Amino acid sequence: MNHFDYRGGVLHAEDVAIPEIAAALGTPFYLYSTATLLRHFRVFRDALPAGSLVAYAVKANNNLAVIETLAREGAGADVVSEGELRRALAGGVPPERIVFSGVGKTERELAFALDTGIFQINVESEPELEALSALAASKGVTADIAIRVNPDVDARTHAKISTGKGENKFGVPIDRMPDLATRCARLPGIRLNGIAVHIGSQITELGPMEAAYLKVIEMTDALRAAGHTITRADFGGGLGVPYVMNEAPPPSPAEYGAMVSRISAGKNLKLAFEPGRLIVANAGILVTRVVYVKHGASRDFLILDAGMNDLIRPAMYDAHHDLIPVVASDRAERAYDIVGPVCETGDTFARGRTVPAFEAGELAAILTAGAYGAAQASEYNARPLVAEAMVNGSDWAIVRPRPSYEEMLGRDRLPDWLG
Ligand code: LLP
Repeated sequence: MNHFDYRGGVLHAEDVAIPEIAAALGTPFYLYSTATLLRHFRVFRDALPAGSLVAYAVKANNNLAVIETLAREGAGADVVSEGELRRALAGGVPPERIVFSGVGKTERELAFALDTGIFQINVESEPELEALSALAASKGVTADIAIRVNPDVDARTHAKISTGKGENKFGVPIDRMPDLATRCARLPGIRLNGIAVHIGSQITELGPMEAAYLKVIEMTDALRAAGHTITRADFGGGLGVPYVMNEAPPPSPAEYGAMVSRISAGKNLKLAFEPGRLIVANAGILVTRVVYVKHGASRDFLILDAGMNDLIRPAMYDAHHDLIPVVASDRAERAYDIVGPVCETGDTFARGRTVPAFEAGELAAILTAGAYGAAQASEYNARPLVAEAMVNGSDWAIVRPRPSYEEMLGRDRLPDWLG
């Protein structure tokens, strides 16, 4: 469900015609819909047990306008670096709604989190626990933590975004938890509040999540029986979204929420969730222009002005993104390899994809691109970082301008010996 629809044959974002934005801003650009963002956040929050913390995973889209929109609705933030923590704070997320995850938090990052006084640091290893304890003790504060466990559950998603198998770098093996809880009780500066888990992203079935959550609940019972005060559980993010039109969608937030409610009922736990993709993926599109239609030896190429530097998901995760014309018309369909201008064969959005026949100069929209799109964009091939815009009803605004070539070049410095 989103707010990108054709009206009179022209694709609109809420009440704004997309060609109008393209004319003002130039292509390519990401375009986010406020109404869609809010809808997804509310649907997810309302499906969960009352009092749950929905900590939006900032990594999915770190634009301040996105964060601010969600923060005003009551969202917290899941962050994985000092930069994301600073973005969450700048976007108006109160510290008491912020969770800090990640396997490689540096001493500087941990210190910043302690100084900020966030809700929870999700500790992912024993060395991190020792470092955090020493740091908190030296500051005379107590760190509120959860231990992120690795439940050794296969999320059955793309290997590059699977995080809950024993072989993955994330979390501590769950059977280490009783010893670690005892260790926490003895360490200065540490308050262990609960267990965190996150087994992967774009998960399209509830079974693996339920298996992982049940392990967390069982371990919570065991820790409590051993005398530890466990008050929280963090169930991570990972619920998938539909990327392919007319394909069976992944489980809905309502189904997910029902599963969570069933297994956590009566456990007296404050639950936290870290959804990223589910909130923003469908709330964003990438608007691009066809530069050329090229007839190759064995196939036709649709060459776009957006490339893998703007949206790396197809190249990196073999991801599927639908592509539609911005101005609809009655036309035949054709099969193309849909590619960008970057000088790598990997710069391919789709192979042999059947879409309406396009002409050079036409606008196209790459759908479901709000998550891990702009956030993973780069300036590879010295292409200025992709612009971002947002609509809200009949208003629209640039929320991250495309840097000028002067700004892009101006960041570099010549060393003295070349000056
Ligand atoms: N919490 C933790 C600890 C995470 O590592 C992640 C995502 C999330 C929450 C949010 O997961 P989500 O609800 O968005 O699935 N770039 C990849 C996805 C990487 C996910 C990394 N971790 C992609 O474009 O598919």
